[in-house]
Amino acid sequence: MRPRVPALRAAATGQKRPRNEFGNKVTVVLGAQWGDEGKGKVVDLLATEADFVCRCQGGNNAGHTVVVDGKEYDFHLLPSGIINPKSISLIGNGVVIHLPGLFEEGDKNDKKGLKGWDKRLIVSDRAHIVFDFHQIVDGLQESERQAQEGKNIGTTKKGIGPAYSSKASRTGLRVCDLLGDFKDFSTRFKNLVRQYQSMYPSLEVDVEDQLKQLKEYAERLRPMVRDGVYYMYEALHGPPKKILVEGANAALLDIDFGTYPFVTSSNCTVGGVCTGLGIPPLNIGDVFGVSKAYTTRVGIGAFPTEQLNAVGELLQTRGHEVGVTTGRKRRCGWLDLVIVRYAHMINGFTAIALTKLDILDVLDEIKVGIAYKLNGKRIPHFPANMDVLHKVEVEYETFPGWKTDTSAARKWNDLPSKAQNYIRFIENHIGVPIKWVGVGKSRECMIQMF
Ligand code: GDP
Ligand code: IMO
Ligand code: MG
Repeated sequence: MRPRVPALRAAATGQKRPRNEFGNKVTVVLGAQWGDEGKGKVVDLLATEADFVCRCQGGNNAGHTVVVDGKEYDFHLLPSGIINPKSISLIGNGVVIHLPGLFEEGDKNDKKGLKGWDKRLIVSDRAHIVFDFHQIVDGLQESERQAQEGKNIGTTKKGIGPAYSSKASRTGLRVCDLLGDFKDFSTRFKNLVRQYQSMYPSLEVDVEDQLKQLKEYAERLRPMVRDGVYYMYEALHGPPKKILVEGANAALLDIDFGTYPFVTSSNCTVGGVCTGLGIPPLNIGDVFGVSKAYTTRVGIGAFPTEQLNAVGELLQTRGHEVGVTTGRKRRCGWLDLVIVRYAHMINGFTAIALTKLDILDVLDEIKVGIAYKLNGKRIPHFPANMDVLHKVEVEYETFPGWKTDTSAARKWNDLPSKAQNYIRFIENHIGVPIKWVGVGKSRECMIQMF
């Protein structure tokens, strides 16, 4: 009998293996710094042609801005591709979902004219739920850190850490539990509340009211829920499809590779794509890293190229560097190529999007961090230990500023040669081609290099 599966048939007959035997490839967009690099904008650019846009990790701690036709949208749980009426958005199993947050976000966008978002959204039944009390606990943990250590993490207080903790400790509740037997769900919900109340005696939860609300959300959610693994399998193995994955947070906030403990609680690097969607590594295609032409960070933690001076203030004001989710001012500094290279070691970027070049337009000179030194000697790796990271001395390369408005540039030749030199230096230093250069907020303000 002739095997029906192409790979088996090829093996049995000694034929060349079919080119697309492993199915469609997904294109991945990931943050290469500490978040807010402009992932939303890059995803929006690619999403105009995508059939599926998927989130694989994080929750509504993310804040992705997309500007289309002068209208600004901010997405937190919804994939930015939801703007495209022709594409399907998917929230994968690796995401943690706060249901009131999800529906508030959808309703807000509906009012802005984004009609029918709920018809284009698919939610994995394996995704974990963030409850209101997880968000309260997030705040209590921050106060505890402040009291015990004199500093907190500066979380978004969206309940991300506590929800992923529940998942890891195997007491969490998933979408499939909410849609299953509600009596069972209620019992497990009450146990989870009790568990947190034993840790935080001041935690008050109106259990009956919460369950009533959750029951209502369950019915709104039900039509969107699918087995995420099978859904992705079909998308990968059906006819050719363009599938996009929108990373949230970023490499330096990754729970394993970031500046621990000042990180988020999920894998924001490429491994999180496979575990957060249930897809094989062979289906990963292009991995695009997004980096600003300088560096920002929200919240606490080491930041070697931070500029606590007029340069930092200029970047903050010109770049409108204010958190989309929390409204906090972002800390600003020079581009740090040590961290972008480190992000590349982990993610294997096939190309980079360099955003916000226009913000540097007015500077007399521009610096780029190219290496870290400890006791006067260069170190080849990115330090794991935060005490060490606080001690590194940054070696900079200095470039003359171009002092020209780049915001109207639409192709490489429109850029001043000093800006071209800056971009080429970054590309050579990371060893990854720069595919896009951002010179403004809106969709068309993106120079495509190849
Ligand atoms: P994300 O979390 O990575 O999606 O990024 P955010 O949306 O949190 O932050 C990026 C901010 O920079 C947003 O306000 C974007 O509109 C804006 N932005 C993105 N690319 C550019 C660019 O090339 N130039 C300028 N001036 N703004 C940009
Ligand atoms: P996007 O997707 C910037 C930061 C928080 C805090 C730390 C932990 O918009 O790039 P959490 O609430 O996740 O427990 O907070 O991580 N953080 C972000 N900073 N952009 C983000 O997402 C972030 N998501 C989390 O500020 O320091
Ligand atoms: Mg953001």
